Amino acid sequence: MLLPNGGEHWKSAKAQIPASKAVIHYISSISRTRRYFLFVAVGATILLFWRWLSGHDARRYECFGPPKPPMDMTPNERDRWSADNTPVFFNHHTPIEVNDTTIKHINLNLVKSTPDARQLQERVLLLSPLRDAAYYLPTHFDLLTSLTYPHHLIDLAFLVGDTSDDTMAVLAKELTRIQTRDDTVPFHSVTIIEKDFNVTMSQDVDERHGFKAQGPRRKSMGRARNYLLSTALKPEHSWVYWRDVDIVDSPPSIIEDFIAHDRDVLVPNIWFHRYEEQDGKMVDIEGRFDYNSWQETATSLKNQRKWKLSRDIILAEGYKEYKTGRNYMAKMGSRKADKDEEIPLDGIGGVNILVKADVHRSGINFPCYPFENQAETEGFAKMAKRAGYGVWGLPNYVVWHIDTEEKPGNG
Ligand SMILES: *[C@@H]1O[C@H](CO)[C@@H](O)[C@H](O)[C@H]1NC(C)=O
Ligand SMILES: *[C@@H]1O[C@H](CO)[C@@H](O)[C@H](O)[C@H]1NC(C)=O
Repeated sequence: MLLPNGGEHWKSAKAQIPASKAVIHYISSISRTRRYFLFVAVGATILLFWRWLSGHDARRYECFGPPKPPMDMTPNERDRWSADNTPVFFNHHTPIEVNDTTIKHINLNLVKSTPDARQLQERVLLLSPLRDAAYYLPTHFDLLTSLTYPHHLIDLAFLVGDTSDDTMAVLAKELTRIQTRDDTVPFHSVTIIEKDFNVTMSQDVDERHGFKAQGPRRKSMGRARNYLLSTALKPEHSWVYWRDVDIVDSPPSIIEDFIAHDRDVLVPNIWFHRYEEQDGKMVDIEGRFDYNSWQETATSLKNQRKWKLSRDIILAEGYKEYKTGRNYMAKMGSRKADKDEEIPLDGIGGVNILVKADVHRSGINFPCYPFENQAETEGFAKMAKRAGYGVWGLPNYVVWHIDTEEKPGNG
């Protein structure tokens, strides 16, 4: 095919001779050695040209198939042609791309509760149930302001319910005062939740602290805590810090101190103190406040078996009707001893609790019904233990509660 076609002419002296004959004549006229080299050169040229055709540019020719319309191809030709030209990629791992904004993705595997919470920027949800709490709120917010855990990692949430005083107005005023500051005091967010349970019980100390009042009272408080928890807990929270508003003093580093213990559920000792005039002198009187944090004892377990309690009974501490014989954390502890000493507990009070958020997420909350003859925070402790979580107390770490003789508290 390199050779000129028969119809063309050499523009030379031998123009009269047909081209093919001229070539043959030329070849036979040269020496053997030259002829040999000529054949090698022509062969190499053909070989190179052929390789170039079937090489990088080959597809261009194959794409067009044989030089005939598809209708004229034999089935074999068509098969060959289509087999060469329809690449099939089996990709079983094509990523699924979700663009619809109604489809949300939350990865709870990334939400951890660790002792390194501060470095890892773990988020804390601080929950306070409020009922006729106007009196306590200014102190509560003074204490919150002084918390040393970074405030931009803390969300506050309040449940206001069955309230007859100015709780809502004072709350709104205090929150505005704090959240509009331009320093590091404002918290990440604040949520106020309103929910009435039509609890008609008196807030009077004597009446609401009687044994008969305890069952209904603890049930309704448990319900309030659960509404607050289920509304305020968000996927980003690692820790839930329950804090009642009638605390009058607590260490500013309490969140870090508690997180460092890396416990599922942890409570401090709750005491109160007041100044009293005795013989013309002011004396500081300390008292043990919270009898809801306790350990079961051999006696208490025996008593409960002996009483054959109906499932509907809710036990409460400190009443002559049922002397349980439990070990109270309030009676243990010393302010001078090691603050980090831990003891296991079977029941806890609700004044100040730090909980790993996954405990709540697993469904451990505050029973508003008798759970193993306990309700609310004591029921919570029993439920957490039943589910295999650890419930602990710090007998030497004291958080000060308002003295209930001074002013009715809601602990
Ligand atoms: C999703 O959005 C991106 C960016 O707008 C777009 O490139 C992609 O094709 C979309 N994917 C689907 C499955 O709609
Ligand atoms: C609570 O009491 C108010 C007023 O008596 C009534 O309007 C409301 O329906 C009650 N709510 C519930 C949940 O019982």
